[in-house]
Amino acid sequence: MASTGTPDLGGGPAPVGPALDVAALTGPREGTPDVAVTLTARREGTRFTLNGSSPGPEIRAVEGQLVEVRLVNESVAGGATLHWHGFDVPNAEDGVAGVTQDAVPIGGEHVYRFVARAPGTYWYHSHQISHDQVVRGLLGPLVVVPRAGLGDTRDITALVHIYDGVRTIDGVAGQHAVEAPAGATVRLRVINTDNGAGAVWISGAPFAVAAVDGVDIHDPPAVHDTSVVITAGGRADLQITVPPGGFRLETGTAAMVVGPAGPAPAAAPRPTASVDMLSYGAPSPLPFDPTRPDRRFGYAIGKSPGFLDGIPGIWWTINGKHFPDDPMFVVGEGDVVTMHLTNDSGEAHPMHLHGHHAVVLARNGVAATGSPWWFDSLEVGNGESYDIAFRADNPGVWMDHCHNLQHAADGLVAHLMYANVTTPFRIGDKGNEPE
Ligand code: C2O
Ligand code: CU
Repeated sequence: MASTGTPDLGGGPAPVGPALDVAALTGPREGTPDVAVTLTARREGTRFTLNGSSPGPEIRAVEGQLVEVRLVNESVAGGATLHWHGFDVPNAEDGVAGVTQDAVPIGGEHVYRFVARAPGTYWYHSHQISHDQVVRGLLGPLVVVPRAGLGDTRDITALVHIYDGVRTIDGVAGQHAVEAPAGATVRLRVINTDNGAGAVWISGAPFAVAAVDGVDIHDPPAVHDTSVVITAGGRADLQITVPPGGFRLETGTAAMVVGPAGPAPAAAPRPTASVDMLSYGAPSPLPFDPTRPDRRFGYAIGKSPGFLDGIPGIWWTINGKHFPDDPMFVVGEGDVVTMHLTNDSGEAHPMHLHGHHAVVLARNGVAATGSPWWFDSLEVGNGESYDIAFRADNPGVWMDHCHNLQHAADGLVAHLMYANVTTPFRIGDKGNEPE
């Protein structure tokens, strides 16, 4: 998959350390897990379920705990995997068919083990034929609570997913209620598992955006009459004090009412304002200096005629090339990496880098001024550009793709590779078809 593109804007060849095999980059193989879960994947009619439900069961761990998840494939014909979206696991645990493992066939199983290092809100989903399997339900929430706990805070998950055209929250269409006493503080973990960005808002109370993509916002101010647009694959943790009459989490269709038992507050239309993370919250220092990167890349998204798997069409391009001739971004461990993302393709793309959190430096050339805006899922609108930075601190081969999963299946996929890492797995072998 050597690149014929020229994504490198500077930095020279990445240093090549001793060779590492992806299959060896596992989490701890020894030790009794603190959280042990078996998830059985099944086909049920047009849906896919895990342990009989979709979303699958919430996996909840305390920071520092060892998590073990056994995936058993009972009846998903194409094979399945589990990927921990936004949770930066060691590479062999990343669950990408053809890159970090083989798809698990019917009758097979695969065990994932990782330490719940970073508190926050995440989710899991199959990364085999994902444009079909995720839409049809092979997914669920993953929550890591801080070691110190959340005190009296009520912790509520709100996983948003569209099944057969109907938007649901935690699998429930329409409106449903969750009881919480007036005066309680609620942390509402909203997870967007769909292919497009989704706006959510709170009616009946002010709120703060406490975290984005699993990372706390520094000094988030309270807002009201404002929506939060969550990137496809992204998460926003909202903090709200329950008013006497309760509040509503709105998505425009499905809603969750949180408060004391009694009549629900009235639904409110979508506010015109939305939170802009580029300027929300207060600045704080970054753990590295992005003005002195070791490596600089361009990731230019476009569209042009060509062949994809032998099929002629107008397909997505990255730096002018179609998959699989598009860039392999090669880094060395420890590198500070910056990337300039542009999009002239006519559509928005929710870009997702595996294994790393990156921070937004600028949008359309305008520098970020708020809290550090760390993300794993970033909506890059048509005509927009973003400058981002991350530390290459997790060796492996990592996907860097669009999370509109049909776009990914149509070739909007690149990889970040550490110079010394090789993988024994192959896309196309053993039915491996990650997108
Ligand atoms: Cu949510 Cu490559 O995945
Ligand atoms: Cu896309």
